[in-house]
Amino acid sequence: MADIFAITTRGLEQVSAQEIAAIPGTIIKTVAYRRVEAACKDINALANLRTVDDVFLKLQTWLSVGHQRSELARFTTLSTELGLDSLFSLIKRLRPLTRTPRFSVTANFVGKRNYSAPEIKASVADGILSRYDEWRYSEDDEESEINLRVFIDHDTAVVGMRLFKHPLHRRDYKIDHLPGSLKPPIAAALAQLATVQADTTILDPFCGGGTILVEAALMGAKVIGGDVSLDAVIKAQENALSASVKAAVHQWDAAHLPLATGLVDGVLSNLPWGRQVAVDENLKLLYQAALAEMRRVVKPGGQILLLTTHPELLDVKPAEEIEISLYGQTPKIIRLINRE
Ligand SMILES: C[S@@+](CC[C@H](N)C(=O)[O-])C[C@H]1O[C@@H](n2cnc3c(N)ncnc32)[C@H](O)[C@@H]1O
Repeated sequence: MADIFAITTRGLEQVSAQEIAAIPGTIIKTVAYRRVEAACKDINALANLRTVDDVFLKLQTWLSVGHQRSELARFTTLSTELGLDSLFSLIKRLRPLTRTPRFSVTANFVGKRNYSAPEIKASVADGILSRYDEWRYSEDDEESEINLRVFIDHDTAVVGMRLFKHPLHRRDYKIDHLPGSLKPPIAAALAQLATVQADTTILDPFCGGGTILVEAALMGAKVIGGDVSLDAVIKAQENALSASVKAAVHQWDAAHLPLATGLVDGVLSNLPWGRQVAVDENLKLLYQAALAEMRRVVKPGGQILLLTTHPELLDVKPAEEIEISLYGQTPKIIRLINRE
């Protein structure tokens, strides 16, 4: 069994824990702020996780991490004590690594400190280089074969080695980017929350670059989407093609969907945000007209999951609300059950 930890979006920890727990031979140990720790038999299977940002083999936990600059010297000392060889060998079974790898360090923290993330990285890199003097440090993660992660939550730091070459939140299918495009793990979490299954028909009436459509299709759903912008429609089609999934994507106004009543099993959508995406109409009118259309085209009892920074504009009482953190904002996932 290998000890691992995954980093996820704040608010989606339980969703990610559920996804990790579904991997046979995995035991969840801790679910904390943006982090799920587990013991895992089949680390290869972790490559298929879709709701997490990234996954690491756990090296150590550092306790009593303070806020003062003197901690930087302590990070260096603690890093000289990190025995990287066994994890290095484990990862080498998954992917090719050179004998003297180029490594990067990523650091982040919660709470105020008198030191910065770049200073933590430099201190940790110094410690590692003093023990592994043939290894080469790169500030650029793209250039490195190994990434060490220091995740500090108040006075506890969890330190790990990234399992895969690239972070899991990166999707190769995203060849076309749009402003306001959703982080793929959040799109996957929406699909997971809706318990999308093979042959479920899912609609995203505000599909943008198609992230939700692709993530739901990769979980086996039949997907239909659209956007008022032709550019978005083309990008969504290209991204679906690049992900090798089928998606019916149309140019439309979500307030007037050219779809039959009761056509789809559910809706997953990331509503236009006043700040992020320019919307010409009055946002409240658009939300309410679009919601009426969603209710019409979703089968009775079907689910409507909406990610929005303005849930109040929908004027509804949701069955569930989950607040997440995203790009400095705190949007909510609203779950509505369509009237029977
Ligand atoms: C937050 S973005 C969706 C991002 C998408 N989930 C992605 O990952 O790329 C909202 C989208 O709503 C579209 N939109 C705004 N008003 C619309 C309307 N009346 N009908 C359909 N789409 C609209 C915008 O063009 C934008 O692409």
